[in-house]
Amino acid sequence: MRVPGDKSISHRSLILGAMAVGETRISGLLEGEDVLRTAAAMAALGAQVERTGEGAWQVHGRGVGGWAEPETVLDFGNSGTGVRLAMGAVATTPITCTFVGDASLSRRPMGRVLDPLRLFGTEAMGREGGRLPITLRGARNPGPVTYASPVASAQVKSAILLAGLAAPGRTTVIEREATRDHTERMLRAFGATVTTESHEDGIAVSVTGDAELKAAAIAVPADPSSAAFPLAAALLAAESAVTVTGVLMNPTRAGLYQTLQEMGADLTIANARDEGGEPVADLTARSSALKGIEVPPERAPSMIDEYPILAAIAAIAEGRTVMRGLKELRVKESDRIAAMARGLAACGVKVTELEDGLIVEGRGPGGVPGGATIATEMDHRIAMSFLCLGLGAQREITVDDSAFIATSFPGFSDLMTGLGAGLVRTNR
Ligand code: S3P
Repeated sequence: MRVPGDKSISHRSLILGAMAVGETRISGLLEGEDVLRTAAAMAALGAQVERTGEGAWQVHGRGVGGWAEPETVLDFGNSGTGVRLAMGAVATTPITCTFVGDASLSRRPMGRVLDPLRLFGTEAMGREGGRLPITLRGARNPGPVTYASPVASAQVKSAILLAGLAAPGRTTVIEREATRDHTERMLRAFGATVTTESHEDGIAVSVTGDAELKAAAIAVPADPSSAAFPLAAALLAAESAVTVTGVLMNPTRAGLYQTLQEMGADLTIANARDEGGEPVADLTARSSALKGIEVPPERAPSMIDEYPILAAIAAIAEGRTVMRGLKELRVKESDRIAAMARGLAACGVKVTELEDGLIVEGRGPGGVPGGATIATEMDHRIAMSFLCLGLGAQREITVDDSAFIATSFPGFSDLMTGLGAGLVRTNR
């Protein structure tokens, strides 16, 4: 099977396409709600954005600094990536934009992006604690910025790099740990000068401003964060095997697969190749007897979105799995540490909630009682993780709201049903 296109790369292809001169052609775009919000925002900012076929999109860009002022608010729905990258992209163009989102996104911290953007001369005003709605007035004469990010966040790094495109000189982000580098790779593909160097405090990523981006062709690989669900299902369910083809295997994203192999998963990675500047491979998972492990905290950035499904997998493993270094999980679409701890406990799994992580006492294959209804908390990955766990549990697991799955993985239930999963939709 294939899973939809990578969410991170999809957002970036639309945003960079909208900032480039000429026509960017995208194939394999994730047509989930999050990415469609970004497409609509780019159109509201004056880019021509057109869908030409399934996953095929064309963006006629405005050029760096060429944004039109939108006539109404930009609504990013559930998407932290969309809103934070777009704030960076407009921050150094003298227009005024108001950003809004749903209840989940309106709870999430935006100060982490607003603080560095203010250094460019951008004015920003939002709710208490830097929450949406937020209005930005882009800097008229931005200067370049050097910023050491206090959080390991590719969204923060990307927002600063995108803002730096319209500021003269070199803008630099210093990150303590390497986070996903899709913005850097794609900026280079669009002709920008981006350097990555080691630095005494970690890694320094710089972009040369007053850049001209030239339209590019982008082929979006399959999303490893989505592939994780059918592959986990194969590991958890009896007598199963699933192959997902063309999965993005960028080392800043592939931490889950290394972790699963350490847990004893029967997981093979074949046909490693390069597609559109990113490494991809075909992944096959088979039913496995897994053992609990301690996941190295420094691996967190490369699997940050995969802890919910890993926690579900850990419940079926033999023994204890320790996951730490995960403070960032508390400010995702939901507080994922709390949501997983509550949900697993409701399914009869012993779990300890830590400030920065989770300890799951695995019950072994067939050992999870299940039989619970899980609060989804407007979080797609919480919903999909518990539906996968249901495949390996004694009694059924219900999620109270499956609507948010469409933000990142449209077609999830049909795909899973096609693999033989017993998914039933009930109207409540
Ligand atoms: C993303 C970065 C990560 C990740 C999110 C996508 C991106 O967030 O959790 O799903 O595309 O840059 P943070 O930057 O908050 O770590």
